[in-house]
Amino acid sequence: MRVGVLASGTGTILEALLGAGIDVAVVVVDRACRATEIATAAGVAAATVERTSFGKDFDRVAHTKEVVRVLQSHGADLVAIAGYGTILDAIMYDAFPDRVLNTHPSLLPAFKGWHAVEEALTYGVKVTGCTVHIATADVDAGPILAQEAVAVLPDDTVEALHERIKTVERRLYPDTILRYSEAAERRRSTKPEPRET
Ligand code: GRF
Repeated sequence: MRVGVLASGTGTILEALLGAGIDVAVVVVDRACRATEIATAAGVAAATVERTSFGKDFDRVAHTKEVVRVLQSHGADLVAIAGYGTILDAIMYDAFPDRVLNTHPSLLPAFKGWHAVEEALTYGVKVTGCTVHIATADVDAGPILAQEAVAVLPDDTVEALHERIKTVERRLYPDTILRYSEAAERRRSTKPEPRET
């Protein structure tokens, strides 16, 4: 399966996907970020669907439609969200049913949202981790495919803890994507051809 990756940040998860041999059709970013450089250096198409506003006037449907158009025009069959800073409209999940995956830096359903690592630290949990799941229109929800625990250390900072979680994500996410896409391919090839009786 060809994978479209959505990223907004430093792109280290994207780097891990490319390093694991995942066939990345296109990288879509919503702002200027390192992910574009990583894609270009790997010879992978990169497209910016710029998020023009973070205010109430932001047209989420138009943004999502453009992301879907770019993904489809590059032949993506599966979408991997890798730290994308824009919540997408439900039309994304209609366009790619059960074909959008996400990695999140907490043990869902605990600590949903963009500040998951900070909130886990503030709450004082002793164990957190990461979750790979099928993404749905509900943010950081959807069927869980894989999880792994990471211990919180006594003097942890948000940065140190997030980096230890990302070390796990860089292994768990590519492994899970490969497993998921292989299972989907198998289902596709064993599905009987429709025929007249
Ligand atoms: C990861 O922790 C991911 O789970 C979260 O954003 C981070 C992306 O990391 N949603 P990077 O920008 O690829 O280093």
